[in-house]
Amino acid sequence: MAKAKQTFCLEGRFEGFMAGGKSPFKYLSLRSTSDEQHVIKLPKSVRLMLFRYLQTGDWVRVVGEESIDKETGEPKLKAQEVVRVKPLEVVTTPPQSVSSQAKRKPPKILICQKSTCRKRGAAQVCREVEATLASCGLTDAVEVKLTGCMDKCKAGPNMVVMPDKQRYTKVKPGQVSELIAQHFQADDVG
Ligand code: FES
Repeated sequence: MAKAKQTFCLEGRFEGFMAGGKSPFKYLSLRSTSDEQHVIKLPKSVRLMLFRYLQTGDWVRVVGEESIDKETGEPKLKAQEVVRVKPLEVVTTPPQSVSSQAKRKPPKILICQKSTCRKRGAAQVCREVEATLASCGLTDAVEVKLTGCMDKCKAGPNMVVMPDKQRYTKVKPGQVSELIAQHFQADDVG
């Protein structure tokens, strides 16, 4: 019998991790904007990384697949991507500024978190990026996104800075602050 799966995209506040099997971080608990709790299974490859990266109360977006548990009939959510985002703000925008805002892509740092890059130090790079953004007051202005393989495994850790689309390979934690200063001067973002 074919299993019906559909994609879901949820946004809300990260409430913490939940244990399952042998892993203390098998699930993530998210409180959505409609105040519902969602328990979402995490892929093994990102559990430890998210444990280091997420803090209770962070606003996150989770994209993944939903299926129905054959035994309980309850929906089961499995994450494919977890991104920390700012909460959605409802603002009234004058019509003439809508198009200019749509054209301006938000600043973002993409860091590969697949196994080869991780073996080469992607987790340390990610931590350094987070720490540097925090010390520059840029945590809310620059989104950090953990990605899948960028097809440059031998040159890992790989990182891409948006909106410049600038790719960096073999990134070392010690290079991070300079790269961030280069792309995100405090008055360029926010
Ligand atoms: S594992 Fe990072 S690019 Fe392939």
